[in-house]
Amino acid sequence: MSASKIPTAAVLGWPVKHSRSPLIHRHWLARYGIEGDYVRHAVAPEEISDFLSSFATGPFIGANVTVPHKEAAFAAVAKADGVATALGAVNTLWLEKGELIGGNTDALGFLANLDQHVPNFGARGGPAIVLGAGGAARAVIHALKARGFAPVYVVNRSRDRAEAMVERFGAPVIAAGWQDVPGLLKDAALLVNTTSLGMEGQPPLEIDLAPAPDTMLVTDIVYAPLETPLLKAARGRGLATVDGLGMLLHQAAPGFEHWFGVRPEVTDELRRIILSDMGVTA
Ligand code: ATR
Repeated sequence: MSASKIPTAAVLGWPVKHSRSPLIHRHWLARYGIEGDYVRHAVAPEEISDFLSSFATGPFIGANVTVPHKEAAFAAVAKADGVATALGAVNTLWLEKGELIGGNTDALGFLANLDQHVPNFGARGGPAIVLGAGGAARAVIHALKARGFAPVYVVNRSRDRAEAMVERFGAPVIAAGWQDVPGLLKDAALLVNTTSLGMEGQPPLEIDLAPAPDTMLVTDIVYAPLETPLLKAARGRGLATVDGLGMLLHQAAPGFEHWFGVRPEVTDELRRIILSDMGVTA
């Protein structure tokens, strides 16, 4: 097989140059001895629809889709899986008999990360608080509803986006505002940040965790920095925490399996590779 014919998958985004997905997939390709490649491919918003309509005749065997193209990808696919349909967003593309198929692995990635780090996470249930109501929150809410968390309080600055989550997912989702957080914390089993607050270059997320029960688990989908101000505060308060890096790693696995035929493992070695790229030694 010539170098140019190596089966190649891509991450499609705008911008896409900061994506760490190539590091993940190239690690797996090397680990499983598969001849293949995975590259970043920038596609402008005005071009994504044409790009996807001719995907089958293009250079890639499949792709991940990142911001801001997930909704456009959902609109472009011939078929979407159940989760992508529930979310109205596609993050993984593959071809079946020349047809473009879309899936969404963000919810699975979120749950797999918690399952890996918290024994019996699946058996927890109880009230959950989701901070934020953007695209990432959609996947998290879907995941929590599927695992039986109830109620799932969605706290957002713009109330209309929180209400839109109630419309999309129905019960058990309840829209709330930031002023409600101290009261909601009192019997929460889980607190999830899906906002951009706490990300490098963004303001910190400042919440007084004092009212929370000692058993509340705190997780953040922000993974740069690895320990966000929220996670640091939770650790200081003696609460169990899970950082967001595992979600990135786990959401990548199903795509790799579709394209290259092997279900890859999320290992500590892979985590260390990404951390070292982030300049974190662990
Ligand atoms: P993504 O698709 O990655 O989730 P997004 O759709 O831009 O990104 O959503 C970002 C989330 O962070 C939103 O819930 C946003 O609140 P609004 O819907 O009110 O904009 C939240 N967010 C960002 N900056 C914020 C801030 N300074 N204070 C409170 N919430 C903020």
